[in-house]
Amino acid sequence: MNLLITGGAGFIGSHVVRLFVKAYSDYNIYNLDKLSYAGNLENIKDIEKAKNYTFIKGDITDKAFLTEIFRKYNFDAIIHLAAESHVDRSIENPLAFVETNIIGTINLLEQCRKNWNNDRKKHLFYHISTDEVYGSLGEKGLFEETTSYKPNSPYSASKASSDHFVRAYGETYKIPYIITNCSNNYGANQFPEKLIPLFINNIINNKSLPVYGDGKYTRDWLYVEDHARAIDIVFHNGKNKETYNIGGFNEWQNIALIKLLCKLMDQKLGRNEGTSSQLITYITDRPGHDRRYAIDANKIYSELGWKPSVTFEDGLSKTIDWYLDNQEWLVNITSGAYKEYYNKMYLKK
Ligand SMILES: NC(=O)c1ccc[n+]([C@@H]2O[C@H](COP(=O)([O-])OP(=O)(O)OC[C@H]3O[C@@H](n4cnc5c(N)ncnc54)[C@H](O)[C@@H]3O)[C@@H](O)[C@H]2O)c1
Repeated sequence: MNLLITGGAGFIGSHVVRLFVKAYSDYNIYNLDKLSYAGNLENIKDIEKAKNYTFIKGDITDKAFLTEIFRKYNFDAIIHLAAESHVDRSIENPLAFVETNIIGTINLLEQCRKNWNNDRKKHLFYHISTDEVYGSLGEKGLFEETTSYKPNSPYSASKASSDHFVRAYGETYKIPYIITNCSNNYGANQFPEKLIPLFINNIINNKSLPVYGDGKYTRDWLYVEDHARAIDIVFHNGKNKETYNIGGFNEWQNIALIKLLCKLMDQKLGRNEGTSSQLITYITDRPGHDRRYAIDANKIYSELGWKPSVTFEDGLSKTIDWYLDNQEWLVNITSGAYKEYYNKMYLKK
């Protein structure tokens, strides 16, 4: 099996690459990543010398480059995670999201159309998507696989569009595909612009904790290693043309999560209880801010036997410990110093 994983230097992708490299020594695993600001080879340093692993630096918006690597490596299957992933950045620059998330995905699908036959036993285009495509929930209800798409941000609109193209290529050209829509992930190696690592970093540095609006926005949180395990199970056992929602039935209002994080950080940093929560600052709301996301994950639970293994309290505690133990990683990724590591490892060979 020649397996292409895109975006494997990013947050979720690095956990997926590690899991596959360690679990499947008989697969050739190719990690294609452009190394944007969010991609960091330090995230997968521990497996970079594995015999079944190859890193390919490149951009999924570059068609000629994709043609060349498909010819060279003859990929059998793809787990596609490469994306622009931050909602706030999509509000600043929507076109970057159109280019990578929509055009980049279509470029990969085009390669599958040209190079694959339609046998699910041999081939699969597995698209990693988000629950944000469904839009916003009221106080009740859950997103099901049949919930209609109603994206509200340029990010979620670009992911919704790429989901539609994956489905369309599956129906029109018979490319075997699966889509999973997952809730918010947290854990080690997440770029510190997303809520949990941003706030951990700010608490360490005694900086303010900016909370959008009234703080009562609700998200459903899943530990990233549980997501990677779900991806493994879906990749191997998921049915062609199916969509699975992935989540842990773990809803938190932002402000409640932030207060829990502050409490744990005070304990771990040996500060008096209440110290970190004084940093909370309410700021003007994000435009088009979705009020509530919550996943109904019953389909993947019952059909594929996956369920989360890590409780939120344990996952959050482990996550904080990882950031406290890896403060150099935080400094490097925010300063861009990791690029020197890339140059040293890959450009001077
Ligand atoms: N983070 C979440 O909570 C979450 C939840 C559900 C789904 N997702 C989806 O999972 C995927 C991964 O998310 P993440 O949080 O790990 O993102 P991330 O931003 O941490 O990583 C994205 C990776 O893609 C790479 N990349 C970006 N543009 C590229 C391009 N044009 N060509 C090649 N590589 C490129 C980046 O260098 C980076 O390594 C995304 O598709 C995202 O939509 C994320």
